[in-house]
Amino acid sequence: MMARFRSAAYAGLILCMTFGMASGKAEAKSGMEHKNFGRTQDGQSAELYVLTNKNGMQAEVTNYGATLVALRVPDRDGKLGDVILGYDNVAGYEAGASYLGATVGRYANRIAHGKFSLNGNTYTLPKNDGENTLHGGTMGFNKHYWTTKDVSSDAGPALQLAYLSKDGEEGFPGNLNITVTYSLVVDRNELRIEYRATTDKDTVINVSNHAYYNLAGQGNGDILKHELKLYASRFTPVDQTLIPTGELRDVKGTPFDFTKATAIGARIDQDEQQLKYGKGYDHNWVLDQKAKGLPAPAAEAYDPQSGRVLEISTTEPGVQFYSGNFLDGTIHGKEGKVYGHRFAFCLETQHFPDSPNHPDFPTTVLKPGQHFHSSSTYRFSTRK
Ligand code: GLA
Repeated sequence: MMARFRSAAYAGLILCMTFGMASGKAEAKSGMEHKNFGRTQDGQSAELYVLTNKNGMQAEVTNYGATLVALRVPDRDGKLGDVILGYDNVAGYEAGASYLGATVGRYANRIAHGKFSLNGNTYTLPKNDGENTLHGGTMGFNKHYWTTKDVSSDAGPALQLAYLSKDGEEGFPGNLNITVTYSLVVDRNELRIEYRATTDKDTVINVSNHAYYNLAGQGNGDILKHELKLYASRFTPVDQTLIPTGELRDVKGTPFDFTKATAIGARIDQDEQQLKYGKGYDHNWVLDQKAKGLPAPAAEAYDPQSGRVLEISTTEPGVQFYSGNFLDGTIHGKEGKVYGHRFAFCLETQHFPDSPNHPDFPTTVLKPGQHFHSSSTYRFSTRK
């Protein structure tokens, strides 16, 4: 009896230490901690930063690849669950080729034939996706260490990561100074990812976060029953190598119409050319924004099982919805989970793929003196 009482009192004490008791409601202590995240092959050790808001929502970020490692949000019963795929330590990210949670750049998504021209010069990039360049080449932003700075404020915990991508790195022109800031809103379950960059030579830039979401919890089955809404009435159809043809096609009457919330799996295996090219969904949607560069709703996903809802807003003109078609059970992720076919989806806010070769698409050119800014928010809630 006594022992039971003592351990209950001890548990209570621990709880009070982690959760303040302000206004009678259990509150977590908002802040940021960091710990070791293992070593890469060159012997360098990686750090893992844990951001917590007052509701207990947590985001984990590593300085390797400025990667989002975990995101813990409550389900409809208030139980926290990690809703993104990842690895237990930095070695997984160093070996991995699926961009789990990564900051992708200098050019997120594809550039056709590893080539583009700017001001009459032709730039040649590594081809790491058949004939094309994907997510910045072989050593994209996701394969480098970033320097970190705690930029937390009363608004919430925030981590800024900085990287200098040198002139000529992976074939891109110009020294590009880039920062990525991950922040949590102190009293609302919202993650913000913000990018800023400057260059000393004309260049192209397209950065995005490549988190793989499963709102039922990472590793907990496929995402085919998740309902998705996209604020987009057009998408950019692709050729068989997933390069946009240049057309902006109306989604009406096609399996690409997510203007009303629809289960991801409802039409994914239809006999349709674009779905065949993507092996499912792996396309860019053209967001119905009212004003260029201002944050606007992009997507909403709902998992009927857990009740979790994710709402994404962005300043970007497009979103790549990828339904995890290349996941095949070979990745052994966090906590021993195995990631099977379509066990997660990505919603990569971005400029359109291959824009440097499509003068009609919104421009991705950044010039000296200009300040690149891009921001996306990921808001979590629940529904009955
Ligand atoms: C992006 C691409 C996909 C795939 C994944 C990573 O989302 O569009 O085709 O390459 O990255 O596996």
